[in-house]
Amino acid sequence: MNVAIAARKVKVWDLPVRLFHWLLVASCGTALVTGFLLEANWLSVHIWAGGIVLALIAARAVWGFTGPTYARFRNFTLSPSAVFAHLKDIATGAVHRDGGHNALGAWMVTGFFIVLTGICITGFMMLGGMFKQGPLKAYLSFATGRLVREPHELLAWLVLAMVAAHIAGVVFESFRSKENLARAMVTGVKDEGFIPARHVYTSNPAIALAIIAIAGAVLAYTGISANALPGLGVKPVTADAAWQKECGDCHMAFHPTLLPAASWEKIMSSLDDHFGEDASLPPETATAIAAFLKANSAETSDTLPANVFRRVSETRPLEITQTPFWLRLHGEIPDAVFKAPPVNSRQNCAACHGDAASGTFVPQAISIPKETAK
Ligand code: HEC
Ligand code: HEC
Repeated sequence: MNVAIAARKVKVWDLPVRLFHWLLVASCGTALVTGFLLEANWLSVHIWAGGIVLALIAARAVWGFTGPTYARFRNFTLSPSAVFAHLKDIATGAVHRDGGHNALGAWMVTGFFIVLTGICITGFMMLGGMFKQGPLKAYLSFATGRLVREPHELLAWLVLAMVAAHIAGVVFESFRSKENLARAMVTGVKDEGFIPARHVYTSNPAIALAIIAIAGAVLAYTGISANALPGLGVKPVTADAAWQKECGDCHMAFHPTLLPAASWEKIMSSLDDHFGEDASLPPETATAIAAFLKANSAETSDTLPANVFRRVSETRPLEITQTPFWLRLHGEIPDAVFKAPPVNSRQNCAACHGDAASGTFVPQAISIPKETAK
């Protein structure tokens, strides 16, 4: 007769902790893939993934004070002595199994909380300041949003490195302790015989749910109200009828925020020789259009296009499509795509930018017509 002696299993990770862990994997993974690998028009998915990461961390923070023993932050061993003891174990080959996270694991989890929170906050700052979207758009300038772009990207690289280190650590400890730690995060159980947590707690799901529901409702209300405010430094431009008619005849009427006042002035004072065409207008019409363009030029707006197209080419200052920013962002699009119908020309911004007429040019509205791929 064969008697298999199975070690008794002890519950360590409760369902909320496991759900949190794997939902965080999914949402972080989505944010990383959409941020690093996919086109700009995936921004909406990227933002949702980031919002979910932030919500998960907030809920986990509540559970860290109300959950059962191994969910509690109080049982995270962050003391330097615990870290040294763990490192010494690794160096000497001694194995002790922890019920919850070992000291290095606790540091890793804490690091994830801090870095991910930083990424989400800088992400919403960029979204508000640079793209004039989301709950912070009424409070942040383009310059402020732009300021946190590099930190946002650096922290994202850091998270990639941390994920690699975390997986390596889990694999390493699983071999050392002969216990599959990744599976334990699925099943929630570990073999008995580990060092128990120092502090024992029973969970308080009713309080946790109440806090999450109330804080969630307050945050959602505040966020939705803030999202309804106009973007900082973005004044509505009322389209001038003469401009729309006279300047929208041969190409789309370029939004006045797409060039600085000096460029518009030169364009309007040389309409008889307009890029090789005669686009002259009766003087009073030209004067009125010139006034409209000047009053709403790039300097008067804080949108992304207004900020980036303010810097014109030194040699060809009248063309949006010759600005350093335009050339950089469209440089990789093949010439053939611009020539193919329904795009037909570089000046046909609206063919690829669904919101070109409003001058906003948000990443979500970018879509190169499929026909051009032929
Ligand atoms: C008779 C036709 C015609 C009219 C009317 C016209 N344009 Fe143009 N515009 C052109 C052509 C042609 C170009 C050169 C673009 C090209 O290579 O296709 C151009 C280019 C431009 C550009 C530079 C686009 C770029 O490449 O970045 C601006 C800005 C511009 N026009 C503004 C205006 C304004 C403002 C008006 C109204 C006052 C106007 N245009 C009216 C024909 C016209
Ligand atoms: C053939 C399609 C196409 C045309 C035509 C086109 N664009 Fe773009 N544009 C793109 C693509 C694709 C991107 C995204 C590039 C990237 O993220 O690397 C982009 C990016 C941009 C951005 C940055 C958007 C953001 O929020 O980050 C601006 C601003 C912009 N374009 C302005 C213009 C203007 C102004 C015109 C017309 C003068 C124009 N584009 C014409 C395809 C086009």
